[in-house]
Amino acid sequence: MLKPQKVTGKIYWLGANDRKKHLFENMWPLPNGVAYSCYLIKDEKTALVDTIESGVSTEFVDKVEELLEGRTLDYLIINHMELDHSGEIKAIIQRYPNVKIVGNSKTFKVVEAYWGVTENLKQVEDGEELSLGYHHLKFVMTPWVHWPETMMTYDVTEQVLFSGDAFGSFGTLDGGVFDDEIEFAYYEEEMRRYFSNIVGKYANMVQKAFKKLDGVPVKAVCPVHGPVWRSNPEVVLGLYDRWSKMEAENGVVIIYASMYGNTEQIADHIARKIAEQGIKKIRIHDVSKTHISTLINEIWRYKGVILGSCAYNSEMFPLMENLTRELEHMGVKGRELGLFGSFSWNGGGVKNLKKFHESIGWNLVAEPVDIYGIPTADKYAQCDELALAMAEKLK
Ligand code: FEO
Repeated sequence: MLKPQKVTGKIYWLGANDRKKHLFENMWPLPNGVAYSCYLIKDEKTALVDTIESGVSTEFVDKVEELLEGRTLDYLIINHMELDHSGEIKAIIQRYPNVKIVGNSKTFKVVEAYWGVTENLKQVEDGEELSLGYHHLKFVMTPWVHWPETMMTYDVTEQVLFSGDAFGSFGTLDGGVFDDEIEFAYYEEEMRRYFSNIVGKYANMVQKAFKKLDGVPVKAVCPVHGPVWRSNPEVVLGLYDRWSKMEAENGVVIIYASMYGNTEQIADHIARKIAEQGIKKIRIHDVSKTHISTLINEIWRYKGVILGSCAYNSEMFPLMENLTRELEHMGVKGRELGLFGSFSWNGGGVKNLKKFHESIGWNLVAEPVDIYGIPTADKYAQCDELALAMAEKLK
């Protein structure tokens, strides 16, 4: 556990870094680790908002007890039941058997399914308030940000939003805990990757949450991963608003699948032609090397997406197929699309990329290019057209 920090008046941040875990949800790489946060409010009544993942720290409950300085814990508020935040609920109940667990009807179904807990439950509805004395908490149901039971807790008194996964980030807290103590650019990248990988599929539900919070003054945002936003919460609120509207930067990501280098060569050619048009934000990735986590992050970032695939058993390359399936599943919208590939016998790469286009519905900037054999200079005319058309969209 890291040293607890005062967020404001009677609100404390408690958190732990996880640098051991390789994959978040056993799927998403954690090169920079991840942090789990929760919050303790010490008022006339005391309340803990969420916990952390079980096993990350052996001293979690002791830290809570230490911070309570001999007082009992009156409420345990569960904003989200994913185990990276609910992992210590059982331990908290064991230490504080009379603690009232605050959640909604969907929360309690999972609480019972996980731990068989059916007593001391205080079910709250959307908009319901709970007074701790000085602090008045309001519960806002925000389903699917990021599971069906998810809610946020808003401290009406101090205008602090305990937001759960929303506004969170990958990356451990390396010294700095608050937004005024960190290098923003580093966390922005990890925050977008977190958003696009974990929450992005539910972007429309994030927008619904924003509508519910419209006009609500927020002085601090307290998420369960990453920095606490106490100085400039509008920064993270603005980013999430943009990302959940699927707004993107004027740049292009080119992702290719290539077995022996032909399709890679086409990718480099197209990128060069786009660069000649003055576009500077160009990224190229080999789908076989770059993890899908990064690819999704890049696609969320840039307006232009160019996908290239060699033919593989009359289909597109399996890892490209995996990426396109995931994009369909996430329902990413509003991208400018270019398609290319190469083949030596029956083809199949570009043919199936076209099916992806029909399914995802993005704007196709030019006719897809499918090059037979080695991509020699005389075969590049159509690639040039694709590059110019993409560059026009990004100017
Ligand atoms: Fe950080 Fe949905 O858990």
